[in-house]
Amino acid sequence: MQDHTSDLILDAARRAASYLSVGADEPASPSPDALVALGGFATELSERGEDPAKVLARLDELGSPATMRSTAGRYFGFVNGGTEPAGLAASILTAAWDQNAALPVMSPVAAHLDDIAARWVLDLLDLPESAVATFCGGASVANITCVLTARDALLHRVGWSVDRQGLAGSPPIKVVLGAEAHVSATKALRVAGIGQDQVTVVPTDSCGRMIAAEVPSLDSLTLLLLQAGNVNTGHSDPFAEIIPAANTAGAWTHIDGAFGLWTAVDPALAHLVAGADLADSWATDAHKWLNSPYDSGLAIVAKGEDLRRAMAVDAAYVSTTSDRALMHLGLQMSQRARGVETWAVLASLGRAGVADIIERTCRLCRQLAQALDAGGAHILAPVVVNQALVSFGDDDMTDAVIAAVQADGTVWAGGTRWQGRSSMRLSVSSTTSTERDMEVAAETILRCWRSVA
Ligand SMILES: Cc1ncc(COP(=O)(O)O)c(C=O)c1O
Repeated sequence: MQDHTSDLILDAARRAASYLSVGADEPASPSPDALVALGGFATELSERGEDPAKVLARLDELGSPATMRSTAGRYFGFVNGGTEPAGLAASILTAAWDQNAALPVMSPVAAHLDDIAARWVLDLLDLPESAVATFCGGASVANITCVLTARDALLHRVGWSVDRQGLAGSPPIKVVLGAEAHVSATKALRVAGIGQDQVTVVPTDSCGRMIAAEVPSLDSLTLLLLQAGNVNTGHSDPFAEIIPAANTAGAWTHIDGAFGLWTAVDPALAHLVAGADLADSWATDAHKWLNSPYDSGLAIVAKGEDLRRAMAVDAAYVSTTSDRALMHLGLQMSQRARGVETWAVLASLGRAGVADIIERTCRLCRQLAQALDAGGAHILAPVVVNQALVSFGDDDMTDAVIAAVQADGTVWAGGTRWQGRSSMRLSVSSTTSTERDMEVAAETILRCWRSVA
């Protein structure tokens, strides 16, 4: 390697380390000045290009201050999570490898570690050892992968080949899902050519869980979409009450468990997702609660032949004897070696380390919710995992508090609507969050409330 390339990579690593070493008291969101300074990127594409060292310096000087500090402990937006150090370090080295993980022949190391990481994830989530777990861009992609797999498998069982006969004239698939299904699950239906008229929506309770008694009778052309971890409340559908009957009826059950499936890792919380192992497919993320680097999710299917029927392709130049060739197990052909990062995160944490993330973030979320409750705010749903919903009175007041918190910048929290009401959403997903961060967050939010009240 040329010296200047080596210098450039070392400079990038130095800048990355310096970015991560900011004190805990740094604001969670960028200053208005940092956002204005982004205008410095707005130049025309140059004719001859620029010295890479100068490009990197500009990226750091203008770009780093304009990030959301989701890697620090005071960012509570969406369900974003931070980055475990081993995952970040692995992603830096893996980026240097620049491996295409489509086929084992393209990257022996990526294939090897992908296989190990996938098996470790199945073990941690308490899913069947015989299932096939495959890395992809995130839970949305995993939902699409699994819904396409379910559609093709259900039709295959009644003698219809989507590959040969397409969808026109095919036996109609019915879909049953909860009123609180995540938008990425409904997007997956759209992508699969399943319209809303084919969907029966099951009512949910005050925590966002599907009401088991309201599930209609299912049959062998039904796709039942369940959820582990409602994006707002963190509550999961009652799998053990619903899935056995679905299995008896021959329906296909898919669980969207972007973050909620990880509840299984904490022995004290595993009961919240009991029965999840009985499903036919699952979608989850490594980049959320596990704190693997973005982007990284997993599509998991109980029977590998179902996944391969929907995803495998046939061309001489990409044929393989491997049964874990990622391009034949998912939507993408070329892809990052995502499994390497999750392998590194899991190898460094071990089972106890992962359980600690789940236990700690849930405990911190409870601490934050209790402090806000003690300060007079309303917690809109019982806090069972790492998500809390908070109201500060009527919708206008709650929206004003959210805007004030975001303008203040000390912490970051987003908003949502929960059962007809505006709500602040707090997701404690970063492994860097501490008890002190929760104290600061509660003080900040209550102070902002007082300022607008
Ligand atoms: C329940 C659920 N499903 C799916 C998703 C989409 O995940 P991703 O952003 O990784 O595609 C989310 C995101 O928050 C989620 O909470």
